[in-house]
Amino acid sequence: MTGLKDQPLMKAVLISQPGEADKLRLGKVPKPVPASEELLVKVKAAGINRADILQRRGLYPPPAGASQILGLEIAGVVEDPGHSCINWKRGDRIMGLLAGGGYAQYAVINQQLAMPIPVQLSFEEAAAIPEAFLTAFQALVQLGRLQAGQTVLIHAGGSGVGTAAIQLSREIGARVIITAGSDQKVQRCRSLGAIEGINYRTSEFPEVIMKATDGKGVNLILDFVGKPFWENNLSVLAEDGKLVILATMGGSEIGNFDLRTLMKKRMTITGSTLRNRTLEYKINLTREFAQFALPLFQEKKLVAIIDKVFTWEAAAEAHRYMEQNLNFGKIVLTISD
Ligand SMILES: NC(=O)c1ccc[n+]([C@@H]2O[C@H](COP(=O)([O-])OP(=O)(O)OC[C@H]3O[C@@H](n4cnc5c(N)ncnc54)[C@H](OP(=O)(O)O)[C@@H]3O)[C@@H](O)[C@H]2O)c1
Repeated sequence: MTGLKDQPLMKAVLISQPGEADKLRLGKVPKPVPASEELLVKVKAAGINRADILQRRGLYPPPAGASQILGLEIAGVVEDPGHSCINWKRGDRIMGLLAGGGYAQYAVINQQLAMPIPVQLSFEEAAAIPEAFLTAFQALVQLGRLQAGQTVLIHAGGSGVGTAAIQLSREIGARVIITAGSDQKVQRCRSLGAIEGINYRTSEFPEVIMKATDGKGVNLILDFVGKPFWENNLSVLAEDGKLVILATMGGSEIGNFDLRTLMKKRMTITGSTLRNRTLEYKINLTREFAQFALPLFQEKKLVAIIDKVFTWEAAAEAHRYMEQNLNFGKIVLTISD
């Protein structure tokens, strides 16, 4: 019988105790073993997400059965395909979503959550794609039903999800308006395809939006901010418009709300978190996204926007950088031996 002491080990970024970024350290844990429908992947790069910061602080535990190690997305090389993984072979370059376990030398991923990395993309670029782009795709296409010719307002336009959403909306043929926290971020969002941008620290967005839409408002809003934008969001939503809430970075509780507002404009308000969706849901989302987006990455119409790459020894520094809200696009960790 193989005892725990005989189990092969790997390096991973571990949380010594819940808290600030200095609680992250490299340590050794057992190497995961793939189930028959899983791929064992040698991780080359992992994307950093806000959820990692919450998890590090002990505020966002991984779903039941998921790895306790941080990391919701990876890019790497298939090392050992499980018995039923007939479509993948050792050496294939893949990227995909995880429920956890990305900040490690090895990770296991369900074969149907793995996507082939377009040939011209580096592992760092590929690791910047799954969480941001799948979240944005889900919100725009599946929840928001965004159509060509419609107008979408994307808050936190310079965030990882925001920069993905701007590009996907542009490719769908929609008109994009963004808000962001600096003039520089607004400018960079414009260069990705936003037709209008508002620095929410220096201007209120409703006036600009109503002017840009001839008083009609926007058909869809992707919101990550919550409370501070709530009333203004409702005021700029067009008739039959949809508000999709993906995060509440500025606060989650709202005060008085008159339900008649919903009726007057026939608006839909919804929200979602990707991490706690079922495996089946994530597989379908991955399949639809891959069909739509992988050819566009191949043609360089979609690009992974990376602000900074850190080595995994500097994971604490990378977390602190994200906490300062300085990034435009994604922050990525490179994983080495
Ligand atoms: N629901 C889901 O399924 C799902 C999936 C992935 C991510 N998320 C969430 O979506 C959000 C964006 O994720 P990300 O990884 O793309 O983030 P990110 O790259 O770290 O960017 C977040 C940006 O949001 C802006 N921001 C932060 N606090 C704000 C506030 N109080 N008011 C207005 N803007 C604020 C900051 O930019 P400015 O300079 O513009 O202020 C910040 O740089 C996070 O909250 C994340 O947890 C949700």
